[in-house]
Amino acid sequence: MHAITYCLLALFSTSYVVAQSTDGIYNLVKRRLPNHADNFQFSLRNITESSKKYDEFIVSTTVNGKVVVEGNSLSALSSGLHRYLSDIAHVDIYWFIGSRLDEVATLPRLSQPLTGSSIVPWRYHFNTVTFSYTSAFWSWEDWELQLDWMALRGINLPLAWVGEEKIAVEVFREIGLTDSEIASFLAGPAFLSWNHFGNIQGSWGEELPSAWIDSQFELQKKIVARMVELGMTPILPAFAGFVPRAFSRVSPNATVVNGSQWEDFPSQYTNVTFLEPFDAEFAILQSRFLAKQREAYGNVTHIYAIDQYNENDPYSGDEEYLQNVTRNTLNSLKAADPDAVWITQGWQFYSNSEFWTDARVKAYLSGVESDSDMIILDLFSESQPQWQKFDSYYGKPWIWCMLHDYGQNMGLYGQIMNITVNPVEALANSSSLVGFGLTMEGEEGNEIVYDLFLDQAWSETPIETAEYFHDWVTTRYTGARYVPDAIYQAWEIMRPTVYNNTNLSSSAVPKSILELIPSTSGLVNRTGHHPTTINYNPSVVVDAWRLFYDAARIENSLWLDPSYQHDMVDITRQVLANAFIPLYEKMVSTYTSGNATTASIIAAGQKLTALLSALDSVLSTNKSFRLNSWIQAARSLAGDNDTLADFYEYDARNQITLWGPTGQISDYASKSWAGLVSSYYKPRWELFVSYLASTPASQYNETAFEAGLLEFELQWQTQTSTNSKSTGVSGDLAQVLEKTKSDWPDVFNC
Ligand SMILES: *[C@@H]1O[C@H](CO)[C@@H](O)[C@H](O)[C@H]1NC(C)=O
Ligand SMILES: *[C@@H]1O[C@H](CO)[C@@H](O)[C@H](O)[C@H]1NC(C)=O
Ligand SMILES: *[C@@H]1O[C@H](CO)[C@@H](O)[C@H](O)[C@H]1NC(C)=O
Ligand SMILES: *[C@@H]1O[C@H](CO)[C@@H](O)[C@H](O)[C@H]1NC(C)=O
Ligand SMILES: *[C@@H]1O[C@H](CO)[C@@H](O)[C@H](O)[C@H]1NC(C)=O
Ligand SMILES: *[C@@H]1O[C@H](CO)[C@@H](O)[C@H](O)[C@H]1NC(C)=O
Ligand SMILES: *[C@@H]1O[C@H](CO)[C@@H](O)[C@H](O)[C@H]1NC(C)=O
Ligand SMILES: *[C@@H]1O[C@H](CO)[C@@H](O)[C@H](O)[C@H]1NC(C)=O
Ligand SMILES: *[C@@H]1O[C@H](CO)[C@@H](O)[C@H](O)[C@H]1NC(C)=O
Ligand SMILES: *[C@@H]1O[C@H](CO)[C@@H](O)[C@H](O)[C@H]1NC(C)=O
Ligand SMILES: *[C@@H]1O[C@H](CO)[C@@H](O)[C@H](O)[C@H]1NC(C)=O
Ligand SMILES: *[C@@H]1O[C@H](CO)[C@@H](O)[C@H](O)[C@H]1NC(C)=O
Repeated sequence: MHAITYCLLALFSTSYVVAQSTDGIYNLVKRRLPNHADNFQFSLRNITESSKKYDEFIVSTTVNGKVVVEGNSLSALSSGLHRYLSDIAHVDIYWFIGSRLDEVATLPRLSQPLTGSSIVPWRYHFNTVTFSYTSAFWSWEDWELQLDWMALRGINLPLAWVGEEKIAVEVFREIGLTDSEIASFLAGPAFLSWNHFGNIQGSWGEELPSAWIDSQFELQKKIVARMVELGMTPILPAFAGFVPRAFSRVSPNATVVNGSQWEDFPSQYTNVTFLEPFDAEFAILQSRFLAKQREAYGNVTHIYAIDQYNENDPYSGDEEYLQNVTRNTLNSLKAADPDAVWITQGWQFYSNSEFWTDARVKAYLSGVESDSDMIILDLFSESQPQWQKFDSYYGKPWIWCMLHDYGQNMGLYGQIMNITVNPVEALANSSSLVGFGLTMEGEEGNEIVYDLFLDQAWSETPIETAEYFHDWVTTRYTGARYVPDAIYQAWEIMRPTVYNNTNLSSSAVPKSILELIPSTSGLVNRTGHHPTTINYNPSVVVDAWRLFYDAARIENSLWLDPSYQHDMVDITRQVLANAFIPLYEKMVSTYTSGNATTASIIAAGQKLTALLSALDSVLSTNKSFRLNSWIQAARSLAGDNDTLADFYEYDARNQITLWGPTGQISDYASKSWAGLVSSYYKPRWELFVSYLASTPASQYNETAFEAGLLEFELQWQTQTSTNSKSTGVSGDLAQVLEKTKSDWPDVFNC
């Protein structure tokens, strides 16, 4: 209870220290720094009395070598610990690479104390869809790493969607729905996020198994407990109104409407039934839902996520209706928990901006009369901020969020200017801004950008990025004997280019055209959320590659450093992905020149597919870049039930390729992964080359080509890792790079 009192106060005022256990943070140290576990001491105390301060810490060292971390909240303590470990001891914990914290040999002494204070009360984490793109198949060990990462980086307000189905299914059963009626509502394991949004319903392939529902529920109990132990306030789901179609059978008089169609899904899988919040049944389901949740996880939060209209237009645009929806939704929450606060993504105001006029947004928000009862996530603040347009959400507390990545796409990318300068400006210009947050659709390789933004939450002025990158690099390659200058230079040339995009027409992580359905047009220079434009001179990445490569020749120990291995593969991936474009353009111009021979098309095409093979072998050297890692994570959740494992694998494969039973949003969540490149993208390009070779340019017919391609794509979905050979084979990075470089001298400029 104490933790909650503190957090609610923190929403609008100073944070107070209250009696809380520091066991969680001691446990974190035991997990991640077992060799130094006895050398840390944590204590909660008020740091300053200034009314402007939120979380604050002071780190000092004692004469006998103890590191003493003092702070006014658990999150302040873990943030202080992180500052010390990353800036002073030069070790950190990373996505993909894992924890390197225990690599510190001796704990350095501090000549003067380290201090820090957050400029916002909340540091938020997760997009609703991150639970599908990134963590759908995570084990408890994966979650432990993630939660430690979050605690150390100061996150104190995370979404916690895992296991929601258990609660929902129980409520639906209690009101008389049958298991098959409920099953026709629930999405597959890799697609539950969009079921939570009311975008889709039902699972293609097979029904969501009860084994999944139960095991995810068990996982969530651990996740929520760990979040609380680490000083975070979990945001739990609440009942949003989405119900199985058959709801009208058990409640024939209830007011339900069909939501809108999402993407190209047939109505079996979309037009989700929505119980209107002003119907008396809504509040009944809400209180059942929250009571069950409280029983399962305890009184751990008062903050609840509800998104009713994410890419899903309201039944009516009538302002009174919209106000009525929010008023009654909030009332249902308050009836179940008088202290309830409703948090919601503001995405729809941008994505469906034609519907969401100022007047409608105002009406919708005004249904929540007391501003402090709602928090809005301004979801894509670095590129498409909406808070100015809606006058700081007319006074509702809101959070400045960096979205950065769609579908866990993988290009090197950042907006370092926009994520340092803009949030600081927003804080000065909006009194209802209460936090900074990360809302990436998928967690991906550009970790430096996520780190930078989370650190901005502790700096009143925009962070100086040159120094930041330098220090980050020092810590990143902690396993090397030393970090050669070349590595610093590589990052420094990418900093103002690759990582400083300000072009707002293609302002998210780009994807490579090699991951797209082949075509003679429309692939290059795409704008939007999955841009294929390259917002920098491609030679920059080649230069960075060269410096990276040379660095390991100067300092051999880099080859053994997991951060170097990861980043070297990622940069090589980008070099090869960029090099694919001119080869592709060459092939297309050969084809369309009018005098192309079959042999010349095939020759140009072979260059393309050879590059894909080279890419695949580079990616295969690292487990973070292998299809097999994703598939094995999915299969392993099925225990020894092969039937179940095959279905999880189907779902895992489908999400990253066809995304829907027949390619409804094909390639949205594409990945440059070993095994996926060789078994999916490369065959698609081979089919394309042979189509071009056998079709005169005057008879080129994209529809006909794609119809044939779909047969291949569909067949790929049901392969399993037990019967398909190429899901990524490991090779030695240094050897593979040596070969790749000598096979492609033009690409690597050597
Ligand atoms: C911290 O400050 C608050 C507000 O001034 C006060 O209520 C509380 O007792 C203080 N806590 C401690 C441990 O000193
Ligand atoms: C639904 O409404 C009708 C007409 O008002 C009424 O006769 C019927 O009993 C109601 N059914 C239920 C299940 O409440
Ligand atoms: C909702 O869609 C289903 C078909 O998918 C249809 O049978 C039903 O009538 C629709 N309901 C409403 C209220 O429009
Ligand atoms: C599904 O939604 C679309 C609007 O997006 C609508 O035109 C269509 O009639 C709906 N279908 C059903 C079955 O409700
Ligand atoms: C608003 O909600 C109330 C119930 O709270 C309902 O009786 C009324 O019909 C609704 N009005 C509109 C315009 O939908
Ligand atoms: C949890 O909250 C419920 C309802 O708000 C309350 O009745 C119960 O006593 C609380 N339990 C604990 C352990 O605080
Ligand atoms: C990002 O920064 C650039 C350069 O200062 C600026 O032109 C642009 O408006 C910023 N983007 C947003 C969304 O504010
Ligand atoms: C980023 O780009 C903006 C706009 O072009 C420029 O003003 C700023 O100096 C750049 N910052 C860095 C670090 O390159
Ligand atoms: C893509 O953009 C680049 C840079 O503006 C330009 O040089 C190139 O011609 C464009 N390619 C296509 C196919 O539009
Ligand atoms: C095709 O014609 C173009 C000029 O239109 C010429 O540049 C090119 O070399 C020719 N290609 C072949 C394969 O003959
Ligand atoms: C394996 O999973 C399938 C699909 O969920 C299920 O029908 C079957 O009962 C399971 N088998 C065992 C032995 O648990
Ligand atoms: C292209 O192929 C499709 C499918 O095979 C066919 O229906 C269509 O008529 C073709 N278009 C032309 C212009 O030939």
